[in-house]
Amino acid sequence: MDTSSISFTALYTGHVWYKHGMSARFFTSPRADLMYNAVRPINFVGEQLLGMSLGDMLLQRHRIMDHRIRQLIEQEGVTQILEIACGLSPRGYTFSRQYPHLHYVEADLPGMATRKQSLLLRHQGFGPNHKVVACNIFESGEPNGLDHVLANVLEPGRPTIIITEGLVNYFDLPTISGFWQKLAQLGRQFPAAWYITDLVPEVKEFHKRVLVSAAQKALGVMTQSRTNLHFRSDVDVERGFRQCGFPSVTVHRPEDFYDVLDIPRSEGESYVRVVEARC
Ligand SMILES: C[S@@+](CC[C@H](N)C(=O)[O-])C[C@H]1O[C@@H](n2cnc3c(N)ncnc32)[C@H](O)[C@@H]1O
Repeated sequence: MDTSSISFTALYTGHVWYKHGMSARFFTSPRADLMYNAVRPINFVGEQLLGMSLGDMLLQRHRIMDHRIRQLIEQEGVTQILEIACGLSPRGYTFSRQYPHLHYVEADLPGMATRKQSLLLRHQGFGPNHKVVACNIFESGEPNGLDHVLANVLEPGRPTIIITEGLVNYFDLPTISGFWQKLAQLGRQFPAAWYITDLVPEVKEFHKRVLVSAAQKALGVMTQSRTNLHFRSDVDVERGFRQCGFPSVTVHRPEDFYDVLDIPRSEGESYVRVVEARC
């Protein structure tokens, strides 16, 4: 399946991380800056009509994910991370320095993986035990299959976290469930493994639903894909992940972290969720 039309959105998210002091300048570009400024009016409209901007939602998800990943490293002994669909996320760059014992593997489609690899090489961005590989979550076997990366790039004896961020809502439920089922099964080869992802479930309030649906259509046109809201509620998210084979699932809401983390607050109910599932 060719899903590379989504890749350019990583320029935008990468620039958001940089603008908020979470990333290095070399992950940005004039094109990303242009995109960032072009999206400003949309963010303004989002704030007025939906009670929060796209940028706020991105910050909520990224900071909650970072927080939980840190806790799993420091409290559960995680020593290996595979960040799939890494795009221009700074997480590999920062975490592999802060935790030099971590085996940190970043993965993305071949074009984006090559871009990230050369940026990190050019700017001495690689941590001590840090690499970038090509991976397509819908492929199997060599050279880029998910099973191939888990079996040949990761080290089997290490407690492991597998991350996807900003990826799953681009695919319909049967398609992404196929990936989740495979991951739940493949994750069992490690002594302990967690899958952490963000997703946006359906919005409850009618007027917000209409606006979110318009935003989805616009994003769909830009990325030549159809964005999907797979679940009706947090309970539904939990049930969906269990059905894919994850025995234990926690759904984190931004509201739960308002007093703990420096994250933007949503006006009314928040949109994004961070799902943490044991393999
Ligand atoms: C919205 S960007 C998110 C990037 C990064 N995770 C972040 O939050 O800044 C989506 C990423 O998914 C990657 N991607 C798209 N289809 C993929 C696939 N089939 N397998 C792996 N990665 C994929 C794209 O190349 C892109 O880097």
